[in-house]
Amino acid sequence: MSDGQSGLVPGAEATAPLAKSLDILTDRRKFLLGTGLAAGALALGRPVRARAAGRTEITFASAKFFGKETMAQVVDAYNQAQSKVHVTYVELPPPSSSTEVHQALVQQLARRTGTPDVFTQDVVWIAEFAGAGWALALDQYFDASVRSQFFPGTVAACTYKDKLTALPWYVDSGMLYYRTDLLEGIGAKPPETWDDLVATAQAIQKSGKADFGYLWQGKQAEVLVCDLVEVIASNGGSILSADGRSGTLNDEKAVAAVQFLADTINKSKISPSDVLSWDEEPSRQPFTAGRAAFLRNWSYVYGIAQDPSASSVAGKVGVVPLPHFAGGKSAACLGGYQYGVNAATKNREAAIDFLTWMSSPATQLHFALQLGIAPTRPEVFEDAQLGKEQPFMKQLKSVFTGATPRPVTPKYAQVTLAIQSGVSKALVTGNIKAELDAANAKITSIVAA
Ligand code: GLC
Repeated sequence: MSDGQSGLVPGAEATAPLAKSLDILTDRRKFLLGTGLAAGALALGRPVRARAAGRTEITFASAKFFGKETMAQVVDAYNQAQSKVHVTYVELPPPSSSTEVHQALVQQLARRTGTPDVFTQDVVWIAEFAGAGWALALDQYFDASVRSQFFPGTVAACTYKDKLTALPWYVDSGMLYYRTDLLEGIGAKPPETWDDLVATAQAIQKSGKADFGYLWQGKQAEVLVCDLVEVIASNGGSILSADGRSGTLNDEKAVAAVQFLADTINKSKISPSDVLSWDEEPSRQPFTAGRAAFLRNWSYVYGIAQDPSASSVAGKVGVVPLPHFAGGKSAACLGGYQYGVNAATKNREAAIDFLTWMSSPATQLHFALQLGIAPTRPEVFEDAQLGKEQPFMKQLKSVFTGATPRPVTPKYAQVTLAIQSGVSKALVTGNIKAELDAANAKITSIVAA
């Protein structure tokens, strides 16, 4: 696969294909491990390669991602692939600790010291960071011909007031994992509506083949907003009005959707009350341990679920779009992280060179294969190896590209906390309408101001 972005940056070297960089990395590690040196360096999370004189030093802060490889290893591969720039990687908490990652970045960026030079950001922070003047506009470095190589929706999500203030990295969307063997066992098809899901989950629970019917994420955290966007949109509702000036969280459709979530615990009993304190990983674990029929989660779960060393249900897992209400349409929340360059960086050229490499087709393919995160370049979706290892990605391409965004506003940090707290209270107390009325009034006061 060719790197369509090489040569964009004046004076930048063409970047070596990632596979080649990784070979070098592997050989070097083998050598270092032989001498007993690498183990210590890796345990401390420090890059294996010593800094080389004459290189431009930049820092890169990102949430922690995990899979068959770590972000530190990918950054290390870049350091070895060229000789002009050295990147020091600063690891933040995982994306499920969204509030903490956001706080760490805001504290750094607001100082305007230029550190970190490059960062990754959740798709929901792009407007805030751009609005505050913390993110460098990237239009001149990634021109229209480069931008056209990414899905238009991800470029739109990276654009604030007509400026490209972020660069697409990966696209995430919620999806429904199910146990193929359990569904076949009762002659059921993957559900299309929430009613279908309830009926199938109950039948499987009744047969004694699974403790839980449906696992989702109800913890008072960012992921609750994601689950909420999906269930509300699948009933034709929304969180904000079309003009973004007022909340619609207490409309009939939204209330019915939240009632459905509460009912999964108290009425249909397809979900354990533990879901109210679970985010992604705690909800994923019982599923891959074979205890549940259905799970709502992101794409990273697929690789784990199909890996016999990590899962007791490998080979028995299917993925389909999430169900919808009768008369509604399936909806997936738009997630994913994107790259950003600190507006105060003193090392623009080095930052752009690094991002050119990080966003290249070869690196995107590597992230998809090793970390299970979906490319933002259509051509990478077509890769044969990806089709073999992660077939659901191509099958669900329209789910990724048609995902529903969370409210797009520079005030998202305040809006999300109001949603998380209000919806969490609604689910815990069962006073759905009253709590959503209160949360909606708060949301309106934030976005109307
Ligand atoms: C995933 C999504 C991200 C979302 C987070 C919530 O990492 O990619 O957009 O905010 O989950 O936990």
